Amino acid sequence: DSAPLIDPFARPISYLRVSVTDRCDFRCTYCMAEHMQFLPKKELLSLEELDRLCTAFVGLGVRKLRITGGEPLVRRDIMTFFRSISRHLETGALDELTLTTNGSQLARFADDLAAIGVKRINVSLDTLDETKFAQITRWGRLTQVMEGLQAAKRAGLKVKINAVALKGFNDSELFDLVQWCGDEGFDLTFIEVMPMGEMGEENRLDQYWPLTDVRARLAERFTLSDLAESTGGPARYVRLAQTEQKIGFITPLTHNFCENCNRVRVTCTGELFMCLGQEDNADLRAPLRASANDDALISTIRDAIARKPKGHDFDYSRQTIGGQMTRHMSHTGG
Ligand code: GTP
Ligand code: 5AD
Ligand code: SF4
Repeated sequence: DSAPLIDPFARPISYLRVSVTDRCDFRCTYCMAEHMQFLPKKELLSLEELDRLCTAFVGLGVRKLRITGGEPLVRRDIMTFFRSISRHLETGALDELTLTTNGSQLARFADDLAAIGVKRINVSLDTLDETKFAQITRWGRLTQVMEGLQAAKRAGLKVKINAVALKGFNDSELFDLVQWCGDEGFDLTFIEVMPMGEMGEENRLDQYWPLTDVRARLAERFTLSDLAESTGGPARYVRLAQTEQKIGFITPLTHNFCENCNRVRVTCTGELFMCLGQEDNADLRAPLRASANDDALISTIRDAIARKPKGHDFDYSRQTIGGQMTRHMSHTGG
């Protein structure tokens, strides 16, 4: 039973995002609450279970695997998992094994990641200002991330910086971020902030900075040409003629990209979410734990893909309490 996964809208599922932990050493305000209740260890998939699960998806045609969290590099023994799962790169079953990280542990892990075949990593970084960085992450140290980024560079990893576009926060840094990424040789992608997590002290709607505006501001200073190429994710890219830099835009709000969706995500407890912006999910932990044989696991995956929704419905224009998802981004790993 290895027929590839195709959803009801004829979209092949070739990209799996797997969260390996709900924990993180930061608490980015748009991602987590300050006081998060983390899961007890027995709730989490073990590294062996994660391996089995990823391997099952690879058998079903997944070609790209992105490890997320929380912060994936704070999971104990995570390199054991990376090393083991990298066998699918060697056999050619996987095109890409990668991760999205906050960069805090890269000084420790960059060499190991490069050695097992990771080529390219995405690092979340919203500001170049130490004080603001400490504010958005609630206590993160920018210098630690900068050291991690330098280690990644030395290890030969290609880096893409992810910056969530936040009005009143990093709008003043647009050109600084572009310049710095250009100098460092990093690609840069902006992300529209999605209405997730509880609205406590802050309101996503107030922070929302549409990327149509980011693009317009960039166009005042640079010549932008649209690129047809894709990294397999939701970003659309432009090249800046003057600096030859690549800039990406992830626009869940202003330009829904669901039509070409090729991905699903699994949480650290084994819930399969067919869409980041919908609550429907399937429990994969139960079939994993019920039997050493993968038949039940695979049929649960197939049943779930058969109900993958057409798209999300994030929408600030009709945002009331109902427009906000209470689930934290750290739960599904973005
Ligand atoms: P590349 O391989 O570089 O294309 O990475 P990626 O963009 O697929 O992954 P990354 O982890 O860097 O994700 C960047 C942002 O895109 C995160 O904020 C994700 O939440 C968001 N994102 C990824 N996939 C989806 C999706 O299917 N729907 C929505 N709404 N957002 C997504
Ligand atoms: N909206 C948009 N992006 C988010 N991320 C986390 N929370 C949100 C949100 N509410 C981003 C992180 C990271 C990626 C995995 O998801 O900054 O780059
Ligand atoms: Fe941690 Fe990333 Fe969430 Fe920030 S966005 S709290 S770094 S998981």
